[in-house]
Amino acid sequence: MIVSGSRSQTLAAALARELEQPLAAVEYDRFPDGELLASVPDFSAADTDRAVIVASTVSSDAHLEVLQLQDAVREAGVEEVVTVLPYMGYGRQDEAFEAGQPISSRAVARAISTGADRVLTVDPHEEGVCDFFDPTAEAVDAAGRLADPLPADLTDPVFLSPDAGAIELAETVRDAYGEREGEDEGEVDYFEKTRLSGEEVEISPSDTAVEGRDVVVTDDIIATGSTMSEAVAILHERGVDRVFVTCVHPLLTSNAYTKLSRAGVEAIYGTDTIEGPASVVSVAPTLAAALETNY
Ligand code: R5P
Repeated sequence: MIVSGSRSQTLAAALARELEQPLAAVEYDRFPDGELLASVPDFSAADTDRAVIVASTVSSDAHLEVLQLQDAVREAGVEEVVTVLPYMGYGRQDEAFEAGQPISSRAVARAISTGADRVLTVDPHEEGVCDFFDPTAEAVDAAGRLADPLPADLTDPVFLSPDAGAIELAETVRDAYGEREGEDEGEVDYFEKTRLSGEEVEISPSDTAVEGRDVVVTDDIIATGSTMSEAVAILHERGVDRVFVTCVHPLLTSNAYTKLSRAGVEAIYGTDTIEGPASVVSVAPTLAAALETNY
């Protein structure tokens, strides 16, 4: 039985179809004082011994919803609770960067672990966060799917990441694109990024010549869009032809979509780990394959 968090309803339904499993009825209510009440009113453990909760923790409320859904299915008598976090919120605070700060990823992982027998997450910002779960969470790599919407006619493509940390994602997209098109592999490179504040970044160009070429820039997350729009601006200064922006988790907070569109991108492609205007690729097949492993 697939049980959806309120912010992952499209993906949960796609996953239920992919696995040919029923989708549980879920209600998301709120008490007058603002407290949440996520419930599974008709859930019967007689129909299933395993519940798969699918919930991206894109907000503090979404975190609480996961805990409530885990508890609700356990209360109904289900034996095994699998928790899928397509996007793991607070994943970027994976260490105390300054004295007095929490390791937020560890705090939320510990809480979620108390209600889960197995946890899966898609392309976490740092794979080390998986160790904060007990048992260790499984990281599922869905970056290859970002090649799916790319057009077949890319001109002498370059696959870039906006910082060194995301170069493996760019390589994965390049490999998946090459496999699909049966062509020579494109070039892969990365920018150097310095974060000045939550909304400001400085990007130093890569050495790769981009004039007249199509460029695909891939990152794990697009949040404010600052990183990507800086990268896109540099590419245009250098005479790039088309720029395709791709990411696994299209958080796209505030005006990020507009910011990127104004920066001159051909398209913005993301997955449905976060549901929104750029969620054109589904990770459901990748998650279904991972869920079926070990069973
Ligand atoms: C950080 O290292 C991540 O990989 C992304 O580059 C970052 O989260 C993007 O944030 P923003 O869109 O706000 O620049």
